[in-house]
Amino acid sequence: MNTEKHLKKEIFKKVKQYFAEVHQTALSAPFIEGKSRINYAGRVFNEKELINLIDSSLDFWLTYGKYSKDFEKKFAEYLGVRWVYLVNSGSSANFLAFYALTSPLLKERKINRGDEVITLAVGFPTTVSPIVQYGAIPVFVDIELETFNIDITQLDEAWSPKTKAIMIAHTMGNPFNLKAVKEFCDKNNLWLIEDNCDALGSKFDGKFTGTWGDIGTSSFYPPHHMTTGEGGAVYTNNSLMKKIMLSMRDWGRDCWCESGVDNTCKARFTQQFGTLPFGYDHKYVYSHFGFNLKATEMQAAIGVAQLEKLPDFVEMRKNNFNKIYQGLKDLKEYFIFPKPTSNSDPSWFGFMLTLKNGLKFSRNDIVGYLESHNIQTRNLFAGNMLRQPTFNTLKKGIDYRVVGDLPNTDKIMNDSFWIGIYPGMRQEAIRYSVKMIRKFVKKYD
Ligand SMILES: Cc1ncc(COP(=O)(O)O)c(C=O)c1O
Repeated sequence: MNTEKHLKKEIFKKVKQYFAEVHQTALSAPFIEGKSRINYAGRVFNEKELINLIDSSLDFWLTYGKYSKDFEKKFAEYLGVRWVYLVNSGSSANFLAFYALTSPLLKERKINRGDEVITLAVGFPTTVSPIVQYGAIPVFVDIELETFNIDITQLDEAWSPKTKAIMIAHTMGNPFNLKAVKEFCDKNNLWLIEDNCDALGSKFDGKFTGTWGDIGTSSFYPPHHMTTGEGGAVYTNNSLMKKIMLSMRDWGRDCWCESGVDNTCKARFTQQFGTLPFGYDHKYVYSHFGFNLKATEMQAAIGVAQLEKLPDFVEMRKNNFNKIYQGLKDLKEYFIFPKPTSNSDPSWFGFMLTLKNGLKFSRNDIVGYLESHNIQTRNLFAGNMLRQPTFNTLKKGIDYRVVGDLPNTDKIMNDSFWIGIYPGMRQEAIRYSVKMIRKFVKKYD
């Protein structure tokens, strides 16, 4: 064995030992009701992630390399899509996906400033931000209370001759009605971006969410279905989108050489571009105003190990969700329960409860109670985006449009909260969460 291999073996042995002594010990500490913190989400890993991470650090390639390539290939295989690009966050993935639709290569279907994009006000802000940042007009529609997803009956009203795309998330992992939305897009010649950041592993009609539209996006921030720390991905089956996203992710360049590689096109010095001198180095030819949204090799290395666990993670999320549902489902007089979209199999992000109207307690009462018993809770992110301070400078009817008054979006903002179901959650923690919710509402019998 050469020195490099020998040293790596020794280091990995120690890393394995470190994982067992430090992380494993912490994970197997006894669960104490009320004392042990129940997080809403968190990273789940073992020595394999640590070993990959150390391996990539020792190689010190740092930027796009063998792990990144491997990750993109394996993630594409998992999803059943042709192309995946790793990026540095889910927000970057949304940003890249949206900006891809502004590429001149799309000709008359390109999104121009002032064009409209149908979206939701409920959920995470960076599904909407790129639309506003570019200068397109978001058009907000309401959701259904039980699925938290787009109310497809409002699509016709939302449409105008300026509509170019729909960009929405599968809220809390629950797939939106992809059949209806896709049909609407096809009928009206619209692009569809699926923000799949909270729904990795979810299926609609037997096919993964994120793979129905023109582009899907993922986040690998730790609370998500798998993690690379910071990180995300875009995916597509459309070869033009693939070309545009690769260019825009990597500075806007025309060249597609991997880092450290030259002359992949075999015509590096023999092409004519714009009014540049003939044979100008293709490596420095720019066909887009791009960004640099690449992730590092260390993130990819963690991702490769996480991908092996992903199918189990998805199953554990579904099981944990069902256990909480079984434990609470009779409390119908208090709560509106999450309802899977018909014909779907959600890989849930969390367990969300919406308080019914006219109760003697508020969302903050129950959330305060749970938090005081060490059960972490979350709102559905921004609630109603339109009520966030970031909208103060925007003018309704000019910078954005709204269909109706979004009463269900407001209801979620006021009366919904969610608790964890992530794969690292102990079964005792699930039982305790159920017990404490039941104990809280009993006070109001
Ligand atoms: C639906 C949705 N989209 C996008 C994002 C952004 O992902 P990131 O935190 O990786 O930027 C999130 C974050 O949680 C999200 O929930």
